[in-house]
Amino acid sequence: MRPKITIVGAGNVGATTAHWMLTRELGDVVLTDIVEGVPQGKGLDLYESTPIAKKDARITGSNSYDETANSDLVVVTAGFPRKSGMSRDDLLKKNYEVMQATIDKVVALSPNAILILVTNPLDAMAQAAYRLSKFSRNRVIGMAGVLDSARFASFIAQALEVSVENVQAFVLGGHGDTMVPLPRYTTVAGVPITELLPGEKIAQLVQRTRDGGAEIVKLLKTGSAFYAPAAAVTDMAEAILRDKKKILPCAAYLEGEYGIRGLFIGVPCKLGARGIETVIEVKLTAEEKAQLEKSAAAVKELTTVLGV
Ligand code: APR
Repeated sequence: MRPKITIVGAGNVGATTAHWMLTRELGDVVLTDIVEGVPQGKGLDLYESTPIAKKDARITGSNSYDETANSDLVVVTAGFPRKSGMSRDDLLKKNYEVMQATIDKVVALSPNAILILVTNPLDAMAQAAYRLSKFSRNRVIGMAGVLDSARFASFIAQALEVSVENVQAFVLGGHGDTMVPLPRYTTVAGVPITELLPGEKIAQLVQRTRDGGAEIVKLLKTGSAFYAPAAAVTDMAEAILRDKKKILPCAAYLEGEYGIRGLFIGVPCKLGARGIETVIEVKLTAEEKAQLEKSAAAVKELTTVLGV
């Protein structure tokens, strides 16, 4: 039997995730959304592409949760995207209400699922979903680091005119202005970028990575990034559904790792059939540790506002 995947929110990120998942034949997908007809229409349209793509997957849409029952994986993209001039943090309360409206319903019908959260502000929404679902921490994962490190990697590949396949970028911390790209652990064909690019250029690329979401919002004017976010979710989903034990940066609930307790923050995780199988701890310099603590403090402010 093929794995069953639910995507809550059939907007840009949700529908594009279904598309990427279809191209990798990760499983059957149910799209669900509050807007009547949209998940059904997008689901049917995607399904009709499968003979051309030569991929076997059932893709359906619904406005209720009944069809989502017994999903192996649930991706939550429901919410409101950031508008131009709006910070991720402005979205906080609005999207928390969406978590309250969706998580209980979806987990009641899929009690054994693994949850991937995409809704922003990411770390705080992951924490909200963790509390609302009452799932164990290995089964609630936030998508941010794969996207942030893909952005960093794409800028590095462009700067050095090398294949993106050669670049391994490393980003820690919250998904926001305080994220912590780590040049020391970022390599091109195994060589740290600190050996390949001047410090000033690296600082520019780090800043562009931090502003990566805002750069797209500014260009699009309405809505926020969705192709790269959806690709990032799909990579995480594949690691889980195919039990790849792949190390990817994810927002995880820390219980003392990196000196942080009781908070979601981006760290390298081994993803497999059990979700987050291990949080990988790497040595940080005093400066990197201070940056991570600053990022954690920014996330903590949001979770405190929500009381989660
Ligand atoms: N239940 C189900 N779906 C909902 C709910 C709800 N309670 N509330 C909103 N939605 C749906 C909307 O109807 C919409 O179709 O969520 C979808 C969001 O899609 P878009 O507006 O296209 O936003 P998108 O670009 O997909 O971003 C979704 O991901 O990257 C983050 O910041 C982004 O939080 C945002 C989320």
